[in-house]
Amino acid sequence: MKLIPAIKLRIKLLFNYRVHGKYSKIRKNDIFLVSYPKSGNTWLRFLIGNLIHKEKVDFNNFNSIIPDIYLTSKQELDRYHSPRIIKSHERYIESYPKVIYIYRDPRDVVISFYFYHKKYNTNFNDSITEFIQKFINGVDSRYDPWDTHLKEWFNSPLNAQDNILFLKYEDIKTNEFKAVETVAKFLELNADEQEIKQAIDNSSFQKMQLLEKKQSNTSSYLKNSNKAINFVRSGKSEWRKYFTEELKNQFKTKYGNFLIELGYEKDLNW
Ligand code: A3P
Repeated sequence: MKLIPAIKLRIKLLFNYRVHGKYSKIRKNDIFLVSYPKSGNTWLRFLIGNLIHKEKVDFNNFNSIIPDIYLTSKQELDRYHSPRIIKSHERYIESYPKVIYIYRDPRDVVISFYFYHKKYNTNFNDSITEFIQKFINGVDSRYDPWDTHLKEWFNSPLNAQDNILFLKYEDIKTNEFKAVETVAKFLELNADEQEIKQAIDNSSFQKMQLLEKKQSNTSSYLKNSNKAINFVRSGKSEWRKYFTEELKNQFKTKYGNFLIELGYEKDLNW
């Protein structure tokens, strides 16, 4: 008698078994939105989503418009129509055919990442100083170190083939229209001026923050997190508030020259 429920449970488990989204077979016309965490990927997903989708993008629908490989199973991803636009944080993957890579000043990335952990990880007790030190040495073995993540994509063959578009978070803020126009061209979308402006407006910091507030109990992305900390949090460069002289020196030793190469600093005197 007890055998039947056990068998039923096994069958249920078998059918509900979700294989990780990153194992979905990559298609030739897939486009990946890649970044080190906390570099503005969600903003990019909203901007693109608002360009390609008839309805406004929000925190309830954004993952179904531009799926995240970590939150979407292989089975679900396999069901998407082509061309798929997919979010990823992966280090260089040879089989990604076309990529938009977004990067941000790592000193702001680490601050954003710290608050992200405080929002999503109940066991997270690091002080900000400890966390910045960890970031310098490697916070997450899947993505670290931060500069290697970028350099692998910079040096990838995709770059030589014009199949990768690099976007700087700070440049999007300075000239959003130009950035979104470039993205639209790269994606071969026929977006006119009005559509681009509308997508920018629907993805503004204020509107996204408002959506976050409204949907914090319905969005599966937000509902199980610490509501006292916003996901759309500050959008500003705040690292100076948190970096001690000692942390600045450690950061310079590790990333100083690359910050100059990327145009974030002129020299090491900061
Ligand atoms: P802060 O924590 O510094 O505010 P990601 O989506 O890659 O996790 O990045 C999250 C960062 O992007 C957060 O940075 C968040 O506030 C910022 N962000 C989200 N939407 C934005 C928008 N519309 N404009 C500017 N920044 C935005």
